[in-house]
Order: sequence, then C-alpha cells, then structure tokens
Amino acid sequence: MQLPQIPLFDWLIENIPEAKLDLASSSITGVRFDELQEMTGFELPEDFDLGKNDPFGALELRDALVSMYNCDHNQVVTTTGGSEANFLVFLALLDRGDEIIVEQPGYSPLWLVPEMLGARVVKWERRFEDGFALDMEALKSKLTKNTKLIVITNLNNPTGVQADQKTIQAVAELASEHGALLFIDEMFLPAANAPQRTAAGMDSVIVTSSVSKVYGIGGLRTGWIVADEDIAKLCLNAKWQTSVAAPYLSELISAAAISNARDKLAQRCKDIAHRNFSIVHEWIENNNDLLNWVPPGGGIMCYPRYNTKTQIGSVDLCRRFIQEQGVLVSPGEYFGLDGHFRLTFMNPVDELESALDKIALVLRTI
Ligand SMILES: Cc1ncc(COP(=O)(O)O)c(C=O)c1O
Repeated sequence: MQLPQIPLFDWLIENIPEAKLDLASSSITGVRFDELQEMTGFELPEDFDLGKNDPFGALELRDALVSMYNCDHNQVVTTTGGSEANFLVFLALLDRGDEIIVEQPGYSPLWLVPEMLGARVVKWERRFEDGFALDMEALKSKLTKNTKLIVITNLNNPTGVQADQKTIQAVAELASEHGALLFIDEMFLPAANAPQRTAAGMDSVIVTSSVSKVYGIGGLRTGWIVADEDIAKLCLNAKWQTSVAAPYLSELISAAAISNARDKLAQRCKDIAHRNFSIVHEWIENNNDLLNWVPPGGGIMCYPRYNTKTQIGSVDLCRRFIQEQGVLVSPGEYFGLDGHFRLTFMNPVDELESALDKIALVLRTI
C-alpha cells in the first residue's frame, strides 16, 4: 500500500527545528504535571502496576467521558490521540469506492487518510467571502446515494470559524436523509468564544476529540470517539488492528483532568487566546493593505489572506518567512486553500508581536 505524504506534517517536521518564532504549532502551551496535580488532586499509588492496561480504556476515563457527553459506556472508544480516533473512524467505516464529502479548507489527514483507504473524496468548499461558513446548498448538490460520511472540524482548523448548533443539526439531518453520517472533529470546540454543546448524541453524528489541543496536556496522547453503540463497536474492532489499548497511565491522568479540571484548563486556553486575539486583530487592521481575515470564533488559530504586490504561492511565502526572519507559520496550500497561511497565536506577547512584525516586513518586500 502506498502511504500518503502529509505535506503539513512534512512542513512542520522540516521547519520546527529552524524556527526562532513558532506560530505553527496547533496546541496550547503545555501545563506542568505539578500544576495539573494541584488542579485535579491526581496521585499515583507507589505500588501502581505499570504492566496494567485495558483495551476498552481505563474505566476512570470512560466514566469521565460518559459524564461529559451524557452517553453510555458502549458509545465511547478511547484512543491514542485524536489522530488515532480519526483514523479508526475511517478504517471502521470506509470501503473502497465509498464517497466522502470533506470541508476545505480543513485538516488534511481528514481527506488524505480516506483517499489512502480507497474512498472517493469530494471537496466541500468553505468560502472566504462567506466567512468560511458551511454552505448548505453546495452540500446538497454533492450528496449522492454513495455518500458515506460528511466530515468537518468544529471549530474549523485552520480558520477557527465556529459552526453553530443549528447548522450542525441541519447537516446531520441532510446526512441522515441520504443514509450518510456526519463525522465532526471537535478537538478545538472547548475553546469556542460562544460556548457550544458537543454534537455527540445527535442522530447520525460521530464525534472525535482529544486532550491535545486546548487542555495543554497533549503529551498524554489521550483521544476518543463518541458514536452510536453499533458504530462505536466497529471503531473498537478497528482499534484491535492498531494500538489495541491506549497508554493506561495517560488515560488515568486524562480522566482526572476531564473530571476535575476540564473547565479550568479550557479557560486557561481561552484567556491566552483572548489576550493574543486582540494583538493579531490590531496587526491585521494596521496592515489591511496586505492582509484580510475572517476573525476566528475562538481557539488559537486564524487564517489570514495575503495580498502581496507580486503574486506568490503560500508555500514559497512561508518559506521566506522562515528563511528570512525565522518565523514559522503553515502554508494555506496544505489546508486546501492557497493565498492564505495559518497562524496560531498562543505564544507569549513579546514573541507574538515580534513574529507579526517580521511577517509584515517580509510581506512588504514582495
Ligand atoms: C483538527 C485536528 N484533529 C486532530 C488532530 C490530532 O490530534 P492529536 O494531537 O490529539 O492526535 C489535530 C492536530 O493538529 C487537529 O488539528
């Protein structure tokens, strides 16, 4: 089997070591273990059995997720990161030749992995001119009897735009009318400015998430899927083909974080993002001959559109940012829409301000 290159990951792996100012990572700054302990009261007994694991997921974590999503234990599958959660959904549900409809711009593994599995990928454009909103009329024209999944991120990665509950409900109903399922990656949803309930529990909806992006504990690599019992079962069977069991100790710590500190951790992320959003906002306003954007609905990223005197593709542009100024952002091309770059804004203020000045400097020379 030919495994796909994921150009976004290649870009990050190649350039993170060079970056003096990294505005490309998509996870909020990490929380220290002692800080988390203070928030959660988590203790590990000295005689803890490091040989222990549980293919169904640590019960403590499943309990925490059941309470968070108000669902049953058999609707939850724990995974190694959101990456495995997403992978398992595709592995469990897609057959060669199935059609899936995927938003663009979006998170590229959500179409590259299905392509690798032999699915036919139909792109569903989120337009800058429409504020990157989900276009229901366009969706209707793309659905066929072969559509198996509609795939979106909420908040959207890379734009940070939020789809509200009513829109999600409408997409789920359309999916259901066509015998398809709506698969939503909700990694960034807890950092939405306007708090929004998960879509898990709606008919025909599968949700994935993880502790990585907004809680600052991504090193634990804990992720999960929430779905109807029959779909969760298929995903669990798929997990027997991959990790079999996620790291048990991580699951215990994640359980404590989700049960005892979820709101605090999300608020920490929002506080950092809120402070930095104003800085980015002002920067865009001050450089509005060069830059335009759809302000994100929360989270730690945005997706400015650039307007340089000479035309330049986003990969070449981002290469200039890193080579000339040591600033790393991610090219829009890797999210399926060129003419933009993804900028994350969770750095300390002085770093962020310096990086933004340097980006503007390069843009003015082109
Ligand atoms: C939208 C989205 N989903 C999933 C992932 C992977 O998450 P994890 O780090 O938990 O594997 C990422 C990571 O960048 C992401 O941006």
